[in-house]
Amino acid sequence: MIGKLDEHISYIKNFKSKDIDEIESLKIQFLGRKGIINDLFSEFKNVPSDQKKEYGQKINELKNLAQIKYDELKSVNSTSTKSISEDLTKPGFPISKGTLHPITIIKNQIIEIFSKVGFELSEGPEIEDDWHNFTALNLPKHHPARDMQDTFFIQQDPDILLRTHTSSVQVRYLENNTPPLKILSPGRVYRNEAISSRSHCIFHQVEGIYVDENVSFADLKQMILYFTKSMFGKSKLRFRPSFFPFTEPSAEVDIYWGLETETDYRITKGTGWLEIMGCGMVDPQVLENCNIDSEKYTGYAFGLGIERIAMLIYQIPDIRLFFENDVRFLNQFKS
Ligand code: DAH
Repeated sequence: MIGKLDEHISYIKNFKSKDIDEIESLKIQFLGRKGIINDLFSEFKNVPSDQKKEYGQKINELKNLAQIKYDELKSVNSTSTKSISEDLTKPGFPISKGTLHPITIIKNQIIEIFSKVGFELSEGPEIEDDWHNFTALNLPKHHPARDMQDTFFIQQDPDILLRTHTSSVQVRYLENNTPPLKILSPGRVYRNEAISSRSHCIFHQVEGIYVDENVSFADLKQMILYFTKSMFGKSKLRFRPSFFPFTEPSAEVDIYWGLETETDYRITKGTGWLEIMGCGMVDPQVLENCNIDSEKYTGYAFGLGIERIAMLIYQIPDIRLFFENDVRFLNQFKS
């Protein structure tokens, strides 16, 4: 009986295989519930008592060897089997690149056009105080013109609000710098308005301001002409007299876009004209509010809506599309 055990022990010691099926059947053959080792254990009672000790030791040795052999072969061969079945030269999954949002694309184009003629970037906070958003811009408390921009206030505090326009950045810059100054301030603005295909309560503006000695309305017109030619390749413009508390005189600028597509009809309400910006000569009082000598310096300012321009250029009939982040929409703007 002991001789049989010795045979099994040397069989296990010499067992070699790289075949995972063979390795598994070795385990079943020896360590399985109906395997050799269990059989040998059940024969223990028939072993003559003077051999019981040696038999017991050998059977345990066999059991340990079988387990160790199986574990060893399995760990070596299962990894190598895996690496053979997997083709390491296969390309990875394609990860699609994101796209710039159309608003970002247009914003960058606007910045580039103005930076060519000396405008520098200056940004301000979206959570603003009353002074920078309204009062310093000639919109004192209870001024009816505040109604033009329905405001989101923060936590019942009438002094802290989400800026309704990027004109607030003018004030911050004028307060901290001396002319000549020429800055462009792009950013997000907020108004408590009903959402429709043409208006949204979050949108984007670019504010520009130039203050120096002898700046005139003619300079402003020339700058807008340069901008519209560069941006749209079109320059048929209409300056309509308008009112803004922070500029005097003030104007709104319409561009003649034409009526070539259905979207042109929709966006321009069938007229072919679309308002693209408000502008004017900086009101001397605004300069004084920011401690700039209004006898010595004059300036012009303008504010334009980025969504409007993007809608025209990309023929987007509904402003809400910009805010839904639908990848089917966004993927169309691969640059
Ligand atoms: N802040 C104005 C608005 O949001 C736009 C504007 C008009 C800005 C005239 C200006 C300006 O700088 O001169 O409606």
